[in-house]
Amino acid sequence: MDGNGRWAKQRGKQRIFGHSNGVKSVREVVEECARLGIEYLTLFAFSTENWSRPEDEVNVLMKLLVTSLKKEFKKLAENNIVLKTIGNTAALPEVVQKELAFVIEKTKNNSGMNLTLALNYGAREEITQAFRSLAVKVKNSIISPEKVDQSVINEHLYTRNMPEVDLLIRSSGEKRISNFLLWQIAYAELYFTKVLWPDFRKEELHNALLNYENRERRFGKTSEQLNA
Ligand code: FPP
Repeated sequence: MDGNGRWAKQRGKQRIFGHSNGVKSVREVVEECARLGIEYLTLFAFSTENWSRPEDEVNVLMKLLVTSLKKEFKKLAENNIVLKTIGNTAALPEVVQKELAFVIEKTKNNSGMNLTLALNYGAREEITQAFRSLAVKVKNSIISPEKVDQSVINEHLYTRNMPEVDLLIRSSGEKRISNFLLWQIAYAELYFTKVLWPDFRKEELHNALLNYENRERRFGKTSEQLNA
């Protein structure tokens, strides 16, 4: 969800104004994905690198999270959404952890879309913690090195219960992955748009999905094999 700061700057406002308008896009995109029957939506809300932003901005982002969770909780329930997180959430401020735990608990029996917030998430951190816990298991003879295959690695990632990524969308014109789901996007379709996140609404989501629909996903095979 990139481009909040630039959106605010274009309007002569503080970056924070961009983030609060970014929340409106979050609301609209989440509701529309749920309505369309998308089963998994993962939002990159705060990266392991975002701590190096000015303290004021980090505090505002944390506050926005808490107020959004409080305010949108009913809407999540109405839309039958299950909330989860990926990332090192134990390092988030306690008030954020508490609010997350509350909404996760309250939505856990819903049967609709899985909405995952990537919070204090970084793919390299995720892969590192997976390696570390695997190394401990090998050391303690819980698993033998020959048994470490792709599915075992998958099971040690934050995304262990999630399917492969089909489509990755990045707003604001940057053509980078920025440490997001590096292992999981091996075969994902990538969609980059110049639209800044606060302007990324329903119509923009539809554009991305229509574009995705016209991709041919070959997973290493040839076009002829797929059409046979
Ligand atoms: C990137 O834009 C955006 C973020 C680091 C924060 C995203 C957070 C929200 C949209 C609000 C809170 C989220 C939820 C789930 C309620 P940027 O600040 O890097 O923009 P810039 O590149 O234009 O400076």
